[in-house]
Amino acid sequence: MVQQPKSSLFDEIPITEGDAIFALMGEYQADPAEEKVNLTAGVYRDDAGKPWVLPTVRKAEKILSSDPRIDHEYPPIAGLPSFISSARDLLFSNPPESFINRCASIQTISGTGACHIGAKFLHSVLKPKTIWVSNPTWSNHHLILSLAAPDTTQKFYPYFDASSNLFDCDGMLKTLETEASAGDIILLHACAHNPTGLDPTQAQWRAIADLCERKHLFPFFDSAYQGFASGSPDTDAWAVRHFVSRGTMELCVAQSFSKNFGLYGQRVGAFHLLAATPDACDRAYGLLADLQRGEISMPPIYGARIVDLILRDPELVKSWQDDLTTMAERIKGMRKALYDELSRLGTPGNWEHIVQQSGMFSYTGLSVEQVGKLKEKHVYMLKSGRASISGLNARNVGIVARVIDEVVRETQAAGKENENGKVNGKANGHHSNGNGVHKTGLNPNKENVLDQPHVEPDAVENKRFAQVDA
Ligand code: LMR
Repeated sequence: MVQQPKSSLFDEIPITEGDAIFALMGEYQADPAEEKVNLTAGVYRDDAGKPWVLPTVRKAEKILSSDPRIDHEYPPIAGLPSFISSARDLLFSNPPESFINRCASIQTISGTGACHIGAKFLHSVLKPKTIWVSNPTWSNHHLILSLAAPDTTQKFYPYFDASSNLFDCDGMLKTLETEASAGDIILLHACAHNPTGLDPTQAQWRAIADLCERKHLFPFFDSAYQGFASGSPDTDAWAVRHFVSRGTMELCVAQSFSKNFGLYGQRVGAFHLLAATPDACDRAYGLLADLQRGEISMPPIYGARIVDLILRDPELVKSWQDDLTTMAERIKGMRKALYDELSRLGTPGNWEHIVQQSGMFSYTGLSVEQVGKLKEKHVYMLKSGRASISGLNARNVGIVARVIDEVVRETQAAGKENENGKVNGKANGHHSNGNGVHKTGLNPNKENVLDQPHVEPDAVENKRFAQVDA
């Protein structure tokens, strides 16, 4: 018999629940039901519910596969230079030399890698006390920040107004005005806010930029949906470009090509740091390259080549633009179809927010309990009520609406929802505008592991890190 040690050095590792989004996707896949609907992870699906390789990506792959110059050598540590400038030009709209000299850009392992290296860089250089994140935010932001910036406390700024299902701009500005300090970092979603699908208007972005400028907050944009949200890469980059155009702030952007090119598994991304001077930019670039070398040596090249090839060819850009329109329009169509169906059924509550929100997700306002009941009926969405709209199609949208209708009525009849009959709103309990400290088991910073009661919407997706009072 093979001998084994009697005890393990790893016995004390707390049992974790894993990532809630992908765990739920696994549950969906394991569900033997024939009629089941997957509204979990933010991945685009076509109207047949199938993964969609963008036709433009197919074209680019063909070109690459027949190019005899393509080899599999190491790229530079910072990534493929040609891809990096294509990525930068797409984001900042072909900026002038004076901008490029101040912009330290590197290729990353998609948006997650960009957020990670950005957080690590800022943590080591600026040593911020606090990073402000929207309440709620993409659940993985918390983990990335905990790992990459362990001494920085994550605090929430209000974002979602559960009583109206709208963006709470006043709450956000008020909290940051009174509680944020010079040198704090503020994480902003460039467009298609994940999970709420609610973005600031241009006037609201101006007010946010005013505040960042006045309070000396460092803007850190997460740009995961450029072109995917509205169908126009320029419209979706408006906020980032506005901050840049003011010429008053240093800032950084994590850029992903997972959604807008459908290159999820290829992990294509970039990180851009805009410094005040070329000298500071050079220094930052050197440190970023060192961080990259120490962690991944250099990023993968295949997906980056595809993106670069497309962005450098006007014909392919036109074709990509058509693909973006296809995705954005199908999602808008599905929002409308779901809304129309719920209206037709007379489902209790107000569902207009489904059509008002944009991008991949709808924050439906359904409660944890209701989401649990949906799952029993084989419709899967996150416990926070976030639904990935691209999982809807002409065949299943009626089913989803019917199931939501049944569940809303059941829970209402059981008197478990709010007394005035509004089922999608504050009374669901897990939606809160409250600002608070995000607690995480991974963050050694004492403030972050305070065991204080705090209700936070996306905490239900973050059970692994937070004690939830929901
Ligand atoms: C999501 O939020 O579902 C997507 O961005 C996928 C992911 O990595 O979490």
